[in-house]
Amino acid sequence: MKLLLFLIVSFFVEANEDFITKDEYASQLYNNPRGISCALCHNENGTAKLIAKYTHEEESRRFETPQINNLSYEKFHKALNNRIRGMPRYFLTDSEIKLLYYYLQQRSKKI
Ligand code: HEC
Repeated sequence: MKLLLFLIVSFFVEANEDFITKDEYASQLYNNPRGISCALCHNENGTAKLIAKYTHEEESRRFETPQINNLSYEKFHKALNNRIRGMPRYFLTDSEIKLLYYYLQQRSKKI
């Protein structure tokens, strides 16, 4: 009986080490969702980023992403379910979108 108890307890202790925290999971999701990091175009914290500068018909243009860490959840969620020019379409689940939103909220609190 003692042995059985020991085995059960050690199983849970071992298994527990494999779990990642919500913050770790959120960070992994932001930095590698479907293989293309949000941080590439939205920085570590979801601040605005200049992607490219170019000249079109002798006019200098800037292609920048907007700040995404200050949006309402509704706007954030809607944006991720729509086609956005210049952004890959991820087909994220609602819980993934919630976690990404949570991640950006946490990050912007730390600045
Ligand atoms: C290849 C670059 C790129 C990547 C990667 C990318 N985005 Fe974007 N994102 C953009 C661009 C460009 C826009 C703005 C397009 C525009 O101005 O119409 C945008 C807009 C947004 C918006 C809407 C902002 C607003 O004010 O309406 C949200 C939200 C957003 N991105 C979240 C994300 C998240 C979350 C990820 C990762 C899952 C991600 N993006 C990955 C380029 C990217």
